[in-house]
Amino acid sequence: MYKLAPSILAADFANLGNQIKKVEAAGAEYLHIDVMDGAFVPSISFGIPIIQSIRPLTKLVFDVHLMIEEPIRYLEDFAKAGADIITVHAEACKHLNRTVARIKELGLKAGVSLNPSTSLSTLDYILEDLDMVLLMSVNPGFGGQKFLPFTFDKIRSLRGILDNKNLSVDIEVDGGISSNNVAAVVKAGANVIVAGTAVFGGDIEGNIKGFKEIFKL
Ligand code: DX5
Ligand code: ZN
Repeated sequence: MYKLAPSILAADFANLGNQIKKVEAAGAEYLHIDVMDGAFVPSISFGIPIIQSIRPLTKLVFDVHLMIEEPIRYLEDFAKAGADIITVHAEACKHLNRTVARIKELGLKAGVSLNPSTSLSTLDYILEDLDMVLLMSVNPGFGGQKFLPFTFDKIRSLRGILDNKNLSVDIEVDGGISSNNVAAVVKAGANVIVAGTAVFGGDIEGNIKGFKEIFKL
């Protein structure tokens, strides 16, 4: 029921193919793919050609997190490259409803992400249309940052809202998650867990198995 989404932002790009195969063999469900444009967030990561080249290597669900301004401009390209889920930032879309509708027209699952300080009320009129909400637990832009503790309240509130409305929307949490805090993140109500450094730092298979053991508790 819980899904692990290792973020390739923390991978060794010279060995990306091998590392993705390890992630799949160890039993992760999603591959979290962080696309950064140097405008919405300070850094630039990678884009469509990388996604295209890794697509044939794995059956993992491609969970594409777009940290780019006006992502509506590129949705079709990401769909063609092999995305399964596309998540856009509410803060980066002038027309969030149209952007989400476009993702669904392309036959993909749609997620909306909120920065740490963006209120859950931003989702009031769109929640019913979503497959996933991605709550950022760090300010987006870099891997290896510290989990912001007020995220726990936000996860609990969102879980409450979804339960009240009887909606089965996934809650994904991203940033600063490790084996030390993942149990609390899940307990608060998240069911999709992103981890970059905590998966790709050191023994990838061992790290993933560690997360999966905690999920069983
Ligand atoms: C941050 C990215 C995250 C990042 C997480 O902007 O969206 O997905 O890769 O990395 P860790 O798990 O190292 O905080
Ligand atoms: Zn991410």
